[in-house]
Amino acid sequence: MTAALAPAVLTQAFEVRPFDAPVGAEIVGLDISQPISNADFARIHRAHLDHHVVVFRDQQVSPADHIAFSRRFGPLEIHVLHQFQLPKHPEILIVSNIKENGEPIGLGDAGVYWHSDISYKPQPSLGSLLHAQELPGDGIGDTLFADQHLAWEALSPELQRRILPLKAEHSYLAKYEELRAKNPWRPKLSQAQIDQVAPAVQPVVRTHPETGKKALFVSEHFTTGIVGLPKEEGDALLAELFAHSVKPEFVYRHCWKPHDLVFWDNRSLMHLAAGTPDHLRRRLNRTTIQGDTPF
Ligand code: SIN
Repeated sequence: MTAALAPAVLTQAFEVRPFDAPVGAEIVGLDISQPISNADFARIHRAHLDHHVVVFRDQQVSPADHIAFSRRFGPLEIHVLHQFQLPKHPEILIVSNIKENGEPIGLGDAGVYWHSDISYKPQPSLGSLLHAQELPGDGIGDTLFADQHLAWEALSPELQRRILPLKAEHSYLAKYEELRAKNPWRPKLSQAQIDQVAPAVQPVVRTHPETGKKALFVSEHFTTGIVGLPKEEGDALLAELFAHSVKPEFVYRHCWKPHDLVFWDNRSLMHLAAGTPDHLRRRLNRTTIQGDTPF
């Protein structure tokens, strides 16, 4: 008797096309719901490391496909706001401004401040994948990505030397109550949720664990102070770094197309949601891959 051979996974013919922007590329001709060969996976992984944000076009795929593809890159986070999990798929956070029967179906103000996902945990996210479900129309509801390697490289050598040894505190709660005051639908956090998001201390400059490149790692959303500096001095330094880190020359602005699946590297980039007026509907599904301890 001959042993059954596993069917070979075929290579898909896809192209990686860099954007005419400081960062980012689109991947055209790949179907993430189909089996992905090791060779294709290696190309996708390389494109992600090189371009930091890759846009898989036209992914008419299910939440289960989205989750399975995300898992190829690592274990997935379960977001602390369990109220906005996709039913039966806790790995998916719904990002949406839509209300049904007066209740929000998702996190409507996700990304209103520049940030890197989960930087408030000791092991922040490797990357996130956002899949378009319902879009408000061209030029509305865009997402911006700022390259923090470029931001680091553009600092003066003197400022680089000053910030290299510094550490900063990141907290999920930093702007939570401010956002809740503006958006009362934001849930009041239970003590169990608060306990899940104790503040974390991170290097102000991190080294990408796969490429070895340095990146700025502070954000206006989650970074609350520089460890060991007087508050006023630390806040002034953070204000300078926040303004620098999102200069237009570091930014790619993503205008969503139907069925886009956007995969970014949280170790290299910060991102921001440009915002959607209340009367227009926008909904995306997000998975978030766990990362390792920044150094
Ligand atoms: C996010 O920060 O994950 C959401 C970004 C967006 O909605 O554009």
